[in-house]
Amino acid sequence: MTVNPLTQLSLAELRRRTSVKWRQYADDVLPLWVAEMDVPLAAPVAEALHDAVGRGDTGYACGTHYAEALGDFAARRWGWSDLPVDRTTLVPDVMLGIVEVLRLLTGPGDAVVVCAPVYPPFYAFVSHADRRVIEAPLGADQRMDTSTLEEAFRRARADGRRAVFLLCNPHNPTGVVHRRDELEAVADLAGRYGVRVVSDEIHAPLVLPGARFTPYLTVAGAEDALAVLSASKAWNLAGLKSALVVAGPQAVADLRRIPEEVSHGPSHLGVIAHTAAFRDGGEWLDRLLVGLDHNRELLGMLLARHAPAIRYHRPEGTYLAWLDCTALGIDSGPVGDEPGVVTDVAGPAKLFLDRGRVALSSGHVFGTGGAGFVRLNFATAPDILTEAVTRMGRAVAEHHATAG
Ligand SMILES: Cc1ncc(COP(=O)(O)O)c(C=O)c1O
Repeated sequence: MTVNPLTQLSLAELRRRTSVKWRQYADDVLPLWVAEMDVPLAAPVAEALHDAVGRGDTGYACGTHYAEALGDFAARRWGWSDLPVDRTTLVPDVMLGIVEVLRLLTGPGDAVVVCAPVYPPFYAFVSHADRRVIEAPLGADQRMDTSTLEEAFRRARADGRRAVFLLCNPHNPTGVVHRRDELEAVADLAGRYGVRVVSDEIHAPLVLPGARFTPYLTVAGAEDALAVLSASKAWNLAGLKSALVVAGPQAVADLRRIPEEVSHGPSHLGVIAHTAAFRDGGEWLDRLLVGLDHNRELLGMLLARHAPAIRYHRPEGTYLAWLDCTALGIDSGPVGDEPGVVTDVAGPAKLFLDRGRVALSSGHVFGTGGAGFVRLNFATAPDILTEAVTRMGRAVAEHHATAG
Protein backbone atom coordinates (compact mmCIF):
# COMPACT_ATOMS: atom_id res chain seq x y z
CA MET A 1 0.00 0.00 0.00
CA THR A 2 1.44 3.37 -0.95
CA VAL A 3 0.43 5.71 1.84
CA ASN A 4 1.42 9.34 1.44
CA PRO A 5 3.10 10.33 4.76
CA LEU A 6 1.76 13.86 4.27
CA THR A 7 -1.86 12.74 4.61
CA GLN A 8 -1.57 10.64 7.76
CA LEU A 9 -2.03 13.27 10.47
CA SER A 10 -5.03 15.51 11.06
CA LEU A 11 -4.72 19.17 11.95
CA ALA A 12 -5.95 18.35 15.47
CA GLU A 13 -3.17 15.76 15.87
CA LEU A 14 -0.55 18.16 14.54
CA ARG A 15 -1.66 20.89 16.94
CA ARG A 16 -0.76 18.58 19.83
CA ARG A 17 2.88 18.84 18.80
CA THR A 18 5.10 21.00 20.99
CA SER A 19 7.84 21.86 18.46
CA VAL A 20 8.42 25.43 17.29
CA LYS A 21 6.38 25.05 14.10
CA TRP A 22 3.25 24.43 16.11
CA ARG A 23 3.91 26.58 19.19
CA GLN A 24 5.28 29.85 17.81
CA TYR A 25 1.84 31.13 16.71
CA ALA A 26 -1.72 31.16 18.03
CA ASP A 27 -4.01 28.21 17.30
CA ASP A 28 -5.93 29.92 14.51
CA VAL A 29 -2.73 30.26 12.44
CA LEU A 30 -1.77 27.64 9.84
CA PRO A 31 2.01 27.27 10.24
CA LEU A 32 3.81 26.83 6.90
CA TRP A 33 7.06 28.43 7.93
CA VAL A 34 9.99 26.62 9.67
CA ALA A 35 11.37 23.48 7.94
CA GLU A 36 9.53 20.79 9.88
CA MET A 37 7.25 18.33 8.08
CA ASP A 38 3.70 17.30 9.00
CA VAL A 39 4.46 13.58 8.85
CA PRO A 40 4.58 10.74 11.37
CA LEU A 41 8.00 9.21 11.93
CA ALA A 42 9.05 6.66 9.30
CA ALA A 43 8.39 3.20 10.78
CA PRO A 44 12.04 1.99 10.68
CA VAL A 45 13.11 5.13 12.55
CA ALA A 46 10.35 4.83 15.13
CA GLU A 47 11.21 1.14 15.69
CA ALA A 48 14.91 1.87 16.15
CA LEU A 49 14.09 4.56 18.72
CA HIS A 50 11.54 2.38 20.56
CA ASP A 51 14.09 -0.44 20.71
CA ALA A 52 16.75 1.87 22.10
CA VAL A 53 14.40 3.29 24.72
CA GLY A 54 13.31 -0.24 25.61
CA ARG A 55 16.94 -1.17 26.22
CA GLY A 56 17.55 2.01 28.20
CA ASP A 57 20.21 2.64 25.56
CA THR A 58 20.50 6.38 26.20
CA GLY A 59 24.22 6.86 26.77
CA TYR A 60 26.82 8.41 24.48
CA ALA A 61 27.09 7.70 20.75
CA CYS A 62 29.76 5.28 19.53
CA GLY A 63 30.89 3.74 16.27
CA THR A 64 30.59 4.42 12.56
CA HIS A 65 27.11 3.04 11.78
CA TYR A 66 25.77 6.43 10.75
CA ALA A 67 28.60 7.01 8.28
CA GLU A 68 28.21 3.49 6.88
CA ALA A 69 24.47 3.96 6.40
CA LEU A 70 25.02 7.31 4.69
CA GLY A 71 27.73 5.79 2.49
CA ASP A 72 25.42 3.00 1.32
CA PHE A 73 22.55 5.44 0.74
CA ALA A 74 24.81 7.80 -1.22
CA ALA A 75 26.03 4.95 -3.42
CA ARG A 76 22.49 3.67 -4.07
CA ARG A 77 20.79 7.02 -4.66
CA TRP A 78 23.43 9.27 -6.09
CA GLY A 79 26.10 6.90 -7.43
CA TRP A 80 28.53 8.39 -4.90
CA SER A 81 30.58 5.28 -4.23
CA ASP A 82 33.59 6.97 -2.69
CA LEU A 83 32.43 7.95 0.79
CA PRO A 84 34.74 6.09 3.16
CA VAL A 85 33.99 6.13 6.86
CA ASP A 86 37.47 7.37 7.72
CA ARG A 87 36.78 10.61 5.88
CA THR A 88 33.77 11.41 8.07
CA THR A 89 33.23 12.75 11.54
CA LEU A 90 30.12 13.03 13.68
CA VAL A 91 28.95 16.52 14.62
CA PRO A 92 25.98 17.68 16.71
CA ASP A 93 24.02 19.07 13.75
CA VAL A 94 24.60 20.62 10.35
CA MET A 95 25.03 24.23 11.47
CA LEU A 96 27.43 23.36 14.28
CA GLY A 97 29.32 21.11 11.86
CA ILE A 98 29.63 24.04 9.46
CA VAL A 99 30.91 26.29 12.23
CA GLU A 100 33.56 23.72 13.21
CA VAL A 101 34.69 23.47 9.61
CA LEU A 102 34.80 27.27 9.22
CA ARG A 103 37.06 27.37 12.28
CA LEU A 104 39.44 24.90 10.60
CA LEU A 105 39.62 26.71 7.30
CA THR A 106 39.50 30.39 8.24
CA GLY A 107 40.47 32.78 11.03
CA PRO A 108 38.55 35.59 12.73
CA GLY A 109 37.69 38.35 10.27
CA ASP A 110 38.08 36.09 7.21
CA ALA A 111 35.30 35.97 4.66
CA VAL A 112 32.59 33.42 4.04
CA VAL A 113 30.84 33.80 0.68
CA VAL A 114 27.14 32.88 0.48
CA CYS A 115 24.69 33.00 -2.43
CA ALA A 116 21.89 35.30 -1.27
CA PRO A 117 19.05 34.87 -0.64
CA VAL A 118 19.94 31.91 1.55
CA TYR A 119 19.03 30.05 4.76
CA PRO A 120 19.20 32.83 7.41
CA PRO A 121 21.43 30.98 9.94
CA PHE A 122 24.21 31.12 7.32
CA TYR A 123 24.45 34.81 8.31
CA ALA A 124 23.87 34.40 12.03
CA PHE A 125 26.31 31.53 12.62
CA VAL A 126 29.05 33.00 10.41
CA SER A 127 28.88 36.38 12.17
CA HIS A 128 28.73 34.71 15.57
CA ALA A 129 31.92 32.82 14.68
CA ASP A 130 33.59 36.21 13.96
CA ARG A 131 33.76 35.64 10.22
CA ARG A 132 32.56 38.16 7.63
CA VAL A 133 29.73 37.33 5.20
CA ILE A 134 30.22 38.35 1.58
CA GLU A 135 27.10 37.92 -0.52
CA ALA A 136 27.15 36.64 -4.09
CA PRO A 137 23.48 37.14 -5.03
CA LEU A 138 21.77 34.52 -7.19
CA GLY A 139 20.89 35.52 -10.77
CA ALA A 140 17.38 36.46 -11.92
CA ASP A 141 16.80 32.77 -12.76
CA GLN A 142 17.54 32.01 -9.08
CA ARG A 143 20.67 30.06 -10.00
CA MET A 144 24.28 30.75 -9.05
CA ASP A 145 25.93 33.33 -11.24
CA THR A 146 29.57 32.59 -12.07
CA SER A 147 30.70 36.16 -12.62
CA THR A 148 29.05 37.34 -9.39
CA LEU A 149 30.72 34.47 -7.55
CA GLU A 150 34.07 35.31 -9.11
CA GLU A 151 33.79 38.91 -7.95
CA ALA A 152 32.87 37.74 -4.44
CA PHE A 153 35.82 35.30 -4.38
CA ARG A 154 38.15 38.10 -5.48
CA ARG A 155 36.92 40.34 -2.65
CA ALA A 156 37.06 37.51 -0.14
CA ARG A 157 40.69 36.78 -0.99
CA ALA A 158 41.84 40.41 -1.01
CA ASP A 159 45.01 40.85 1.11
CA GLY A 160 45.61 37.11 0.81
CA ARG A 161 43.11 36.28 3.57
CA ARG A 162 41.68 32.78 3.77
CA ALA A 163 38.11 32.35 2.55
CA VAL A 164 35.32 29.79 2.32
CA PHE A 165 32.36 29.49 -0.05
CA LEU A 166 29.42 28.12 1.92
CA LEU A 167 27.40 26.34 -0.74
CA CYS A 168 23.78 25.36 -0.14
CA ASN A 169 23.26 22.23 -2.24
CA PRO A 170 20.28 22.03 -2.94
CA HIS A 171 19.55 25.69 -2.28
CA ASN A 172 17.27 26.85 0.51
CA PRO A 173 15.00 28.90 -0.06
CA THR A 174 14.73 28.64 -3.86
CA GLY A 175 14.69 24.84 -4.09
CA VAL A 176 17.24 25.00 -6.91
CA VAL A 177 19.20 21.76 -7.35
CA HIS A 178 22.59 22.75 -8.70
CA ARG A 179 23.62 20.90 -11.85
CA ARG A 180 26.96 19.18 -12.21
CA ASP A 181 28.20 21.75 -14.74
CA GLU A 182 27.33 24.57 -12.32
CA LEU A 183 29.20 22.82 -9.52
CA GLU A 184 32.18 22.22 -11.81
CA ALA A 185 32.27 25.94 -12.51
CA VAL A 186 32.27 26.56 -8.73
CA ALA A 187 35.13 24.10 -8.21
CA ASP A 188 37.10 25.69 -11.03
CA LEU A 189 36.66 29.20 -9.59
CA ALA A 190 37.39 28.04 -6.05
CA GLY A 191 40.60 26.38 -7.26
CA ARG A 192 41.70 29.48 -9.16
CA TYR A 193 41.05 31.86 -6.27
CA GLY A 194 42.16 29.57 -3.43
CA VAL A 195 38.71 29.57 -1.80
CA ARG A 196 37.74 26.44 0.13
CA VAL A 197 34.22 25.10 -0.43
CA VAL A 198 31.93 23.80 2.32
CA SER A 199 28.76 22.21 0.94
CA ASP A 200 25.62 22.03 3.09
CA GLU A 201 23.78 18.99 1.68
CA ILE A 202 21.06 18.60 4.29
CA HIS A 203 18.31 18.73 1.63
CA ALA A 204 20.05 16.25 -0.68
CA PRO A 205 17.58 13.34 -0.29
CA LEU A 206 14.69 15.72 -1.05
CA VAL A 207 15.22 16.09 -4.79
CA LEU A 208 11.96 15.91 -6.73
CA PRO A 209 11.21 14.26 -10.09
CA GLY A 210 12.91 16.09 -12.94
CA ALA A 211 16.13 16.95 -11.10
CA ARG A 212 19.14 15.00 -9.92
CA PHE A 213 21.29 15.70 -6.90
CA THR A 214 25.04 15.99 -7.45
CA PRO A 215 27.13 15.55 -4.29
CA TYR A 216 29.70 18.34 -4.40
CA LEU A 217 32.52 16.00 -3.44
CA THR A 218 31.93 13.97 -6.62
CA VAL A 219 32.73 16.99 -8.80
CA ALA A 220 36.14 17.26 -10.44
CA GLY A 221 38.22 19.85 -8.60
CA ALA A 222 36.37 19.44 -5.30
CA GLU A 223 38.98 17.19 -3.67
CA ASP A 224 39.83 19.72 -0.94
CA ALA A 225 36.18 20.52 -0.11
CA LEU A 226 34.06 19.35 2.82
CA ALA A 227 30.37 18.50 2.87
CA VAL A 228 27.92 18.31 5.75
CA LEU A 229 25.06 15.80 5.48
CA SER A 230 22.25 14.66 7.74
CA ALA A 231 19.00 12.72 7.72
CA SER A 232 17.37 15.57 9.62
CA LYS A 233 15.38 17.32 6.85
CA ALA A 234 14.32 14.32 4.76
CA TRP A 235 13.06 12.27 7.71
CA ASN A 236 12.01 15.18 9.97
CA LEU A 237 14.55 14.50 12.71
CA ALA A 238 15.58 18.03 13.72
CA GLY A 239 14.82 17.21 17.36
CA LEU A 240 17.16 14.20 17.26
CA LYS A 241 20.49 15.88 16.86
CA SER A 242 23.28 14.56 14.70
CA ALA A 243 25.01 15.10 11.37
CA LEU A 244 28.17 14.07 9.53
CA VAL A 245 31.01 16.08 8.04
CA VAL A 246 32.59 14.38 5.03
CA ALA A 247 36.02 15.45 3.78
CA GLY A 248 37.29 15.24 0.23
CA PRO A 249 40.56 13.28 -0.12
CA GLN A 250 42.64 16.45 0.17
CA ALA A 251 40.76 17.74 3.22
CA VAL A 252 41.31 14.76 5.50
CA ALA A 253 44.10 16.48 7.43
CA ASP A 254 41.73 19.40 8.08
CA LEU A 255 39.04 17.06 9.31
CA ARG A 256 41.45 15.43 11.76
CA ARG A 257 41.92 18.79 13.46
CA ILE A 258 38.30 18.85 14.68
CA PRO A 259 38.62 18.11 18.40
CA GLU A 260 37.41 14.64 19.32
CA GLU A 261 35.05 16.24 21.86
CA VAL A 262 32.89 17.67 19.06
CA SER A 263 31.74 14.12 18.28
CA HIS A 264 30.31 13.94 21.82
CA GLY A 265 27.74 16.61 20.89
CA PRO A 266 25.30 14.57 18.79
CA SER A 267 22.78 12.62 20.81
CA HIS A 268 23.05 8.84 20.80
CA LEU A 269 19.32 8.62 20.02
CA GLY A 270 19.92 11.07 17.17
CA VAL A 271 22.63 8.85 15.73
CA ILE A 272 20.37 5.78 16.05
CA ALA A 273 17.49 7.57 14.33
CA HIS A 274 19.58 9.03 11.49
CA THR A 275 21.29 5.68 10.91
CA ALA A 276 17.94 3.88 10.64
CA ALA A 277 16.65 6.57 8.27
CA PHE A 278 19.52 6.28 5.80
CA ARG A 279 19.72 2.48 6.14
CA ASP A 280 16.05 1.48 6.11
CA GLY A 281 14.04 4.65 5.33
CA GLY A 282 14.31 4.61 1.53
CA GLU A 283 10.85 3.24 0.84
CA TRP A 284 9.25 5.82 3.17
CA LEU A 285 11.29 8.58 1.53
CA ASP A 286 10.05 7.54 -1.90
CA ARG A 287 6.45 7.83 -0.73
CA LEU A 288 7.19 11.22 0.77
CA LEU A 289 8.73 12.44 -2.48
CA VAL A 290 5.60 11.42 -4.41
CA GLY A 291 3.51 13.42 -1.93
CA LEU A 292 5.80 16.43 -2.16
CA ASP A 293 5.75 16.32 -5.94
CA HIS A 294 1.96 16.31 -5.81
CA ASN A 295 1.95 19.28 -3.42
CA ARG A 296 4.39 21.13 -5.65
CA GLU A 297 1.85 20.92 -8.51
CA LEU A 298 -1.12 21.63 -6.24
CA LEU A 299 0.57 24.77 -4.95
CA GLY A 300 1.01 26.04 -8.51
CA MET A 301 -2.70 25.48 -9.23
CA LEU A 302 -3.82 27.05 -5.96
CA LEU A 303 -1.71 30.15 -6.46
CA ALA A 304 -2.95 30.55 -10.04
CA ARG A 305 -6.51 30.40 -8.73
CA HIS A 306 -6.33 32.41 -5.50
CA ALA A 307 -3.34 34.73 -5.83
CA PRO A 308 -2.26 34.89 -9.48
CA ALA A 309 -0.05 37.94 -8.89
CA ILE A 310 2.33 35.82 -6.78
CA ARG A 311 5.09 34.39 -8.95
CA TYR A 312 5.91 30.76 -8.30
CA HIS A 313 9.09 29.21 -9.61
CA ARG A 314 8.62 25.43 -9.18
CA PRO A 315 11.31 24.17 -6.82
CA GLU A 316 13.43 21.26 -8.09
CA GLY A 317 14.09 19.99 -4.59
CA THR A 318 13.38 20.61 -0.87
CA TYR A 319 9.81 21.17 0.32
CA LEU A 320 10.17 24.93 0.24
CA ALA A 321 8.59 27.30 -2.25
CA TRP A 322 10.08 30.75 -2.72
CA LEU A 323 7.21 33.01 -3.68
CA ASP A 324 7.75 36.37 -5.35
CA CYS A 325 5.13 38.73 -3.94
CA THR A 326 6.62 41.93 -5.34
CA ALA A 327 3.75 42.36 -7.82
CA LEU A 328 1.14 42.42 -5.04
CA GLY A 329 1.65 46.13 -4.53
CA ILE A 330 2.25 45.84 -0.79
CA ASP A 331 5.15 46.99 1.34
CA SER A 332 8.07 44.61 0.72
CA GLY A 333 9.43 44.86 4.23
CA PRO A 334 12.86 46.08 5.33
CA VAL A 335 15.66 46.08 2.77
CA GLY A 336 19.28 46.08 3.85
CA ASP A 337 18.63 45.32 7.50
CA GLU A 338 20.79 42.72 9.18
CA PRO A 339 19.38 39.39 7.89
CA GLY A 340 19.34 36.23 9.90
CA VAL A 341 16.57 36.27 12.51
CA VAL A 342 14.27 33.51 11.31
CA THR A 343 11.27 34.59 13.37
CA ASP A 344 11.20 38.19 12.08
CA VAL A 345 8.04 38.84 10.10
CA ALA A 346 7.60 41.83 7.79
CA GLY A 347 6.25 42.77 4.35
CA PRO A 348 4.04 40.17 2.62
CA ALA A 349 4.63 37.59 5.37
CA LYS A 350 3.14 40.06 7.86
CA LEU A 351 0.08 40.59 5.68
CA PHE A 352 -0.47 36.83 5.36
CA LEU A 353 -0.03 36.38 9.09
CA ASP A 354 -2.13 39.32 10.27
CA ARG A 355 -4.96 39.09 7.75
CA GLY A 356 -4.78 35.50 6.53
CA ARG A 357 -3.65 33.73 9.72
CA VAL A 358 -1.02 31.83 7.72
CA ALA A 359 2.58 31.82 9.01
CA LEU A 360 5.25 31.86 6.30
CA SER A 361 8.96 32.70 6.50
CA SER A 362 9.56 36.35 5.71
CA GLY A 363 11.82 36.80 2.69
CA HIS A 364 13.81 39.71 4.09
CA VAL A 365 15.60 37.49 6.64
CA PHE A 366 17.21 35.51 3.77
CA GLY A 367 19.48 38.44 2.83
CA THR A 368 19.83 40.45 -0.36
CA GLY A 369 17.04 39.71 -2.84
CA GLY A 370 14.71 38.37 -0.16
CA ALA A 371 12.51 41.41 0.56
CA GLY A 372 9.10 41.08 -1.07
CA PHE A 373 9.29 37.27 -1.07
CA VAL A 374 7.92 34.66 1.31
CA ARG A 375 9.04 31.06 1.80
CA LEU A 376 6.24 28.53 2.04
CA ASN A 377 6.79 25.03 3.47
CA PHE A 378 4.58 22.63 1.50
CA ALA A 379 5.43 19.50 3.50
CA THR A 380 1.89 19.34 4.77
CA ALA A 381 -1.45 17.75 3.91
CA PRO A 382 -3.03 18.89 0.62
CA ASP A 383 -6.13 20.15 2.48
CA ILE A 384 -4.00 22.30 4.80
CA LEU A 385 -2.10 23.65 1.80
CA THR A 386 -5.39 24.40 0.05
CA GLU A 387 -6.82 26.21 3.06
CA ALA A 388 -3.58 28.20 3.53
CA VAL A 389 -3.41 29.45 -0.07
CA THR A 390 -7.14 30.22 -0.04
CA ARG A 391 -6.55 32.37 3.05
CA MET A 392 -3.54 34.04 1.41
CA GLY A 393 -5.66 34.95 -1.62
CA ARG A 394 -8.37 36.34 0.63
CA ALA A 395 -5.81 38.39 2.58
CA VAL A 396 -4.53 39.97 -0.62
CA ALA A 397 -8.06 40.74 -1.83
CA GLU A 398 -9.02 42.29 1.51
CA HIS A 399 -5.86 44.34 1.56
CA HIS A 400 -6.55 45.72 -1.90
CA ALA A 401 -10.18 46.39 -1.01
CA THR A 402 -9.22 48.43 2.08
CA ALA A 403 -6.21 50.10 0.44
CA GLY A 404 -8.22 50.99 -2.70
C1 LIG B 1 20.26 24.56 4.40
C2 LIG B 1 20.08 24.17 5.82
N1 LIG B 1 21.15 23.92 6.59
C3 LIG B 1 21.03 23.57 7.89
C4 LIG B 1 19.79 23.45 8.48
C5 LIG B 1 19.70 23.12 9.93
O1 LIG B 1 20.23 21.89 10.17
P1 LIG B 1 20.61 21.43 11.65
O2 LIG B 1 19.34 21.51 12.45
O3 LIG B 1 21.12 20.04 11.48
O4 LIG B 1 21.65 22.40 12.12
C6 LIG B 1 18.64 23.68 7.72
C7 LIG B 1 17.31 23.57 8.34
O5 LIG B 1 16.32 23.82 7.75
C8 LIG B 1 18.79 24.05 6.36
O6 LIG B 1 17.73 24.29 5.58
